[in-house]
Amino acid sequence: MHIHRYEKLWLVVSLLLIVGLIATVTYGAVGAGVAMISDEEDTVDPNALSEDDRFAEPRVEHVGENEYEAYVVAQAFIFRPDPIEIPEGSTVTFYITSPDVIHGFQLAGTNVNTMVIPGEVAKLTVEFDEPGEYGVVCNEFCGSGHHDMEGLLIVHPEDEYEHDD
Ligand code: CUA
Repeated sequence: MHIHRYEKLWLVVSLLLIVGLIATVTYGAVGAGVAMISDEEDTVDPNALSEDDRFAEPRVEHVGENEYEAYVVAQAFIFRPDPIEIPEGSTVTFYITSPDVIHGFQLAGTNVNTMVIPGEVAKLTVEFDEPGEYGVVCNEFCGSGHHDMEGLLIVHPEDEYEHDD
């Protein structure tokens, strides 16, 4: 069977397009650090956060040299704690949950962004190398106050951060 040269060329091009499509979809799904909330992460009772060790008092805890854990509650229509305060050069693992409806937790101007689901704990680890301030915004429509739901994260210069331990 004779295949014309141009037809062969188009066969090759269309195969490359298919490979390219699969590669970009794969990259978008797993390459950009996007992840679903893991099944292994503990669940919490969204109706009893006030009795939960981690979320009764939303806070930032110093857990190791330059390492912090932030327990954050997103609820209609605030974030707690607010502001979230950490020193520069720290690595912070955020644990975030909601007692009411689905909210978002996004640090404006960064790729730090997660959905916050009642009963689930969203976990993400972020390094903050430079002092600065970030707006915390809710990007899931959560009710009448959604557009006002915002918080603040302050990365303090090391010498201005008050360690409470
Ligand atoms: Cu909370 Cu929108």
